[in-house]
Order: sequence, then C-alpha cells, then structure tokens
Amino acid sequence: MGLGSSMNNAYWKHRAANAKSDFEKVGWLEGTGEQFRDHHIAVSSVVQAFCKNGVVLDVGCGFGRFCVPVVLAGGHWIGVDQCEAWEAEWHARPEYDGVRGSCEFLIADCSDPSAWFHRFSKVDVILASGVVGNMGWTVDRFMQEYRPALSDGGVFVVSSGFNLIEVRL
Ligand SMILES: C[S@@+](CC[C@H](N)C(=O)[O-])C[C@H]1O[C@@H](n2cnc3c(N)ncnc32)[C@H](O)[C@@H]1O
Repeated sequence: MGLGSSMNNAYWKHRAANAKSDFEKVGWLEGTGEQFRDHHIAVSSVVQAFCKNGVVLDVGCGFGRFCVPVVLAGGHWIGVDQCEAWEAEWHARPEYDGVRGSCEFLIADCSDPSAWFHRFSKVDVILASGVVGNMGWTVDRFMQEYRPALSDGGVFVVSSGFNLIEVRL
C-alpha cells in the first residue's frame, strides 16, 4: 500500500456511497457542473485521439466514466482503482452495458503498480485523471513508475483538477 492509501480508500468509499451525481462523485470542490462536463469531454476526446484501437490503462478510474469513449474509439479499456464501491458501480451502470465486453476492472493500489503490471501486456495510453495528486506523487514520478507499462509510441494523458490536461510521450 502506498503512503496514506488506506485513508484515501476510506474517503473514496464514503464518496462512492454518498455522492448523488457524477459531478459530486469525481468533481472537485472548487469546480462547477459545467467545468466537470467540459473536462469530461476534453479528456474523452484526447484519449480517443490517441487510443487508435489500442489499450487504455485508466489509473484510479473511479466508476469508470472513460470506458465508453475508449470503446467507442475502438479501444480496450482497463480500469484500475482501489475502491470496491466504484467497481460495483461500474458493473451496475446500465449505460456501460454495451461496452463492458471490451473492458476490465482491476481492484489494486495504483501506488504499487509493480505488484500488478505483470497481469497485462503493454498499453497504448496511460490515463490518469484526478489521481496523481491523490497518491501524493508528482507527475514525473508517475511517469517514471508507469513507463514500463507503456508500449513504444504510447502516450500518457495526465489530467489534474478540472482544467489541465497534459499529453506526453
Ligand atoms: C478524483 S477521483 C477520479 C476518478 C476518475 N479518474 C475520474 O476522473 O472519473 C480519484 C480516484 O482515484 C482513486 N485512488 C486514489 N488513490 C488510489 C490508489 N492509491 N490506488 C488506487 N486508486 C486510487 C480513488 O479511489 C478515486 O476513485
């Protein structure tokens, strides 16, 4: 477990159980519903542009909202999160019914990726939306730790808060 991981997990379980809207579930306290929607569309578009029928690893995926745009772009989605309540919601959401066959959800600690990397081949996009800071990591550290999972020519799509998206080789 990474530093502060179990406290973090309790926080997200509480949030999964109590939030009423998608905005409340992953939204940022200082944000607005409009900013949440804009951010969702922007991240989805960037991931779709880079996934090219490939595999997207969605680190700290929450309830898995990016699985639909990934599969619509011809990709395969692998979501990883430590919170079982999000996994349960991902299985229950009717709007994912048509795409789950091209998806996998793994419960794991994203701050200890070497413990589960062996379960997958290399991926084409590593997406981290609103999670790097949660783990207490810098973006540089995230890229260093996750680089072994990225295929040649693959990209990182890292998004923090609701207004910054970075794409890096
Ligand atoms: C702000 S939410 C973002 C969820 C999703 N990426 C999105 O944009 O909809 C942060 C997520 O990171 C997960 N998370 C935080 N630290 C984690 C860790 N060490 N291992 C696995 N998941 C973690 C939380 O459970 C939560 O689902």
